Amino acid sequence: MNVGFIGTGSMGTILIESFLRTNALRPDQLIAANRTFAKAERLAAVHPGLRAVRSNREAAAGSDILFICVKPKDFKAVIDEIRPCVDPSRILVSITSPVLIRHLEEHLPCKIAKVIPSITNFVNSGATLAIYGSRMEPRDIEVLENLLKHVSTPHVIPESHARVCSDLASCGPAFLAFFIERFVDAAVRCTGIARADACRLAAEMVRGTGLLLTEGGFTFETLRERVSVPGGITAEGLRILALDLEGTFERLIRTTHSKYDEEVNKVESLFFNPQS
Ligand SMILES: NC(=O)c1ccc[n+]([C@@H]2O[C@H](COP(=O)([O-])OP(=O)(O)OC[C@H]3O[C@@H](n4cnc5c(N)ncnc54)[C@H](OP(=O)(O)O)[C@@H]3O)[C@@H](O)[C@H]2O)c1
Repeated sequence: MNVGFIGTGSMGTILIESFLRTNALRPDQLIAANRTFAKAERLAAVHPGLRAVRSNREAAAGSDILFICVKPKDFKAVIDEIRPCVDPSRILVSITSPVLIRHLEEHLPCKIAKVIPSITNFVNSGATLAIYGSRMEPRDIEVLENLLKHVSTPHVIPESHARVCSDLASCGPAFLAFFIERFVDAAVRCTGIARADACRLAAEMVRGTGLLLTEGGFTFETLRERVSVPGGITAEGLRILALDLEGTFERLIRTTHSKYDEEVNKVESLFFNPQS
């Protein structure tokens, strides 16, 4: 099986390197194209056997599964370019959430899937969100999920929940890192603890908390209750957080959804009204 990548920026590179590191794929099964060719060339230099190609069509024609890892604004041009090379047997995987399955099914004859990765896949962890188009057969889903399972836990979701699931699974690492960073900043400012020590303690805490919640049998609620005793120090800290975070996540979700709606509208006008 050959797997192609169009777009070897941040996410395309993370996926390629994760598939290689986990032996999900050999370098000679991979073909990569990128607008700035040097980026694809660099991957080929680091992973002998991986083919860097100058044309998106060549990447598409040589792939059984083709990942498109470009930004929404660049998507339509790529689709127009590769259309003659993607016959109905191929699986095209978009990792770009505002490009909807119906946009792709109307413009391409092949099987369509949308997979939203997370930076956590770089350490073979976290979810990949999977949405399947109508032409994906059970065997296609099995092949794709077997690949994704090397680097993540695939979760099939309805496209209507793509945004909120991405907030949690894909933007979540940035949100959590920001939250912890603010905690560390305050610790340094208020107590004089060395920043490096505070960062190390906080990062180990995040790792351990993740393990307790995924493998340790805890829920968010049982974990919170186990650590805090009524009237104790942790409970006081939680009281402050509850007060200060009131409404924060509702605002966050409203904001990400309205930005997403804007992006879907922009993609719609590229796909269905190319003059605008
Ligand atoms: N970053 C994340 O954590 C994350 C998570 C989930 C999903 N995503 C989605 O993944 C997509 C890519 O994000 P990213 O962070 O990887 O962006 P990025 O780092 O900007 O990478 C996009 C790549 O696409 C290339 N490109 C653009 N137009 C092209 C064309 N016509 N032909 C070939 N290559 C082309 C760009 O080439 P140049 O080198 O010339 O710019 C760039 O290397 C986005 O839709 C994003 O929403 C990202």
